[in-house]
Amino acid sequence: MNRTCLAVVLAAGDSTRMKSSMSKVLHPVGGRPMIAHVMASIAASGVSDVALVLGRDAEKVEKAASIDGLAVEGVLQTERLGTGHAVLMAKDAIARGYDEILVAYGDVPLITAAPLKAAREALAGGADVAVIGFHTKNPTGYGRLLVENGELIAIREEKDANEVERAVTWCNSGLMAIDGKKALDLLSRIGNQNAKAEYYLTDLVEIARSLGGKAVAVDAPESELTGCNNRAELAVIERLWQERRRHELMVSGVTMIAPETVFLSHDTVIGQDALIEPNVVFGPGVTVEGGAVIHAFSHLEGAHVAAGATVGPFARLRPGANLAEGSKVGNFCEVKKAEIGRGAKVNHLTYIGDAVVGAEANIGAGTITCNYDGVNKHETHIGAGAFIGSNSSLVAPVKIGDGALIASGSVITEDVPADALALGRARQEMKPGRAAVFRERNLAIKAAKKAGK
Ligand code: UD1
Ligand code: CA
Repeated sequence: MNRTCLAVVLAAGDSTRMKSSMSKVLHPVGGRPMIAHVMASIAASGVSDVALVLGRDAEKVEKAASIDGLAVEGVLQTERLGTGHAVLMAKDAIARGYDEILVAYGDVPLITAAPLKAAREALAGGADVAVIGFHTKNPTGYGRLLVENGELIAIREEKDANEVERAVTWCNSGLMAIDGKKALDLLSRIGNQNAKAEYYLTDLVEIARSLGGKAVAVDAPESELTGCNNRAELAVIERLWQERRRHELMVSGVTMIAPETVFLSHDTVIGQDALIEPNVVFGPGVTVEGGAVIHAFSHLEGAHVAAGATVGPFARLRPGANLAEGSKVGNFCEVKKAEIGRGAKVNHLTYIGDAVVGAEANIGAGTITCNYDGVNKHETHIGAGAFIGSNSSLVAPVKIGDGALIASGSVITEDVPADALALGRARQEMKPGRAAVFRERNLAIKAAKKAGK
């Protein structure tokens, strides 16, 4: 499509029903502000110029909306006089003379590129206005699409609709494409003679027709057009988004045993043949390469898991955790800002932070890298093939050489050379027979107490 297009995105709402300290379009879905999802779909539909109609939290919303590949210009709507009024806030941009104007809402984040393209194609096919509609069992609150002989004759807002019109279940998503050369003229004819005394964008349909033009509706799945007015709807949108993204990953070759229990971020990358067990949560910035296994109940954030590595069950990978091929981070382990070398094992109840663990090293149960002195963070280096005995504290900054052996229960405060054995604990004392003496004495105390009662 060589036709030029300007997207006008409405995001000036007060978000009253969200009962929130910020504009609803800043609330995250899949860890990304709603408005950024809308922008990404606009970009994916081949549109690069966007006029963003702002109200509450204008600066923050504009920042969240500024994604790669889009030229976003913010325009302020100081009074909220309706959707028609809101689109007109972008009149300077519209006046630059685009072939098409595409209107989208900042609070309809599940929209994909396909319906946007379909609406634009309808314009290319001769319509002046192409509205994106959806069929629903619950039309309450939406504008109804009134169609005759394949043409859209009007959109009737719920409050202005009669009984017959209210029974219609084909609804206005609010998103539409408008002939760019006619848009300003059409928009300027919108009045506010209606139940809400607002300037309804939806009036464009009847206005275009009264001038001899044509309006059509294109259909899109209801799930893409769910809008967000309150936190309950936000949760529904999050669920739908998660379902969609999990499905995409599964069809791309990722195995999920109980997909409904896996939570993804907008930027989660998982390779083919990776296995994700139940109850795994991905925070932002995670890449899991093909063939890796994430066992149940793990939480990952800002982490990279290479091919063939395994994580969990019950593991926590925090930002900067980088697991090399074939490495293992097992149950009740936490890894932060650390390289876990090829084939290294961190299997049980361990904290590795600000560290480098060499290839094939074995970290015993309960090992702690003591990385923080209360003021500064320090690094621990563990050499290739080193063996750290269980319940050791490695007090950073400290270096353990390749092939070194740390005796169980050690507190290591000094560097350990390669292949050395380090013991940092009290020497064991032996008192033969002493346990029996101790036990007899305690039994006698207990018996005396009982007799005294
Ligand atoms: C609108 C449509 C309705 C459609 C519904 C879909 C009109 C008149 N009605 O109704 O047919 O079924 O959306 O959700 O268009 N906004 C502004 N400035 C304004 C007014 C609105 O930026 O002055 C923004 C809102 O923040 C919101 C969007 O436009 O993102 C829709 O506005 P809203 O008042 O929610 O419209 P509805 O009454 O839901
Ligand atoms: Ca609405």
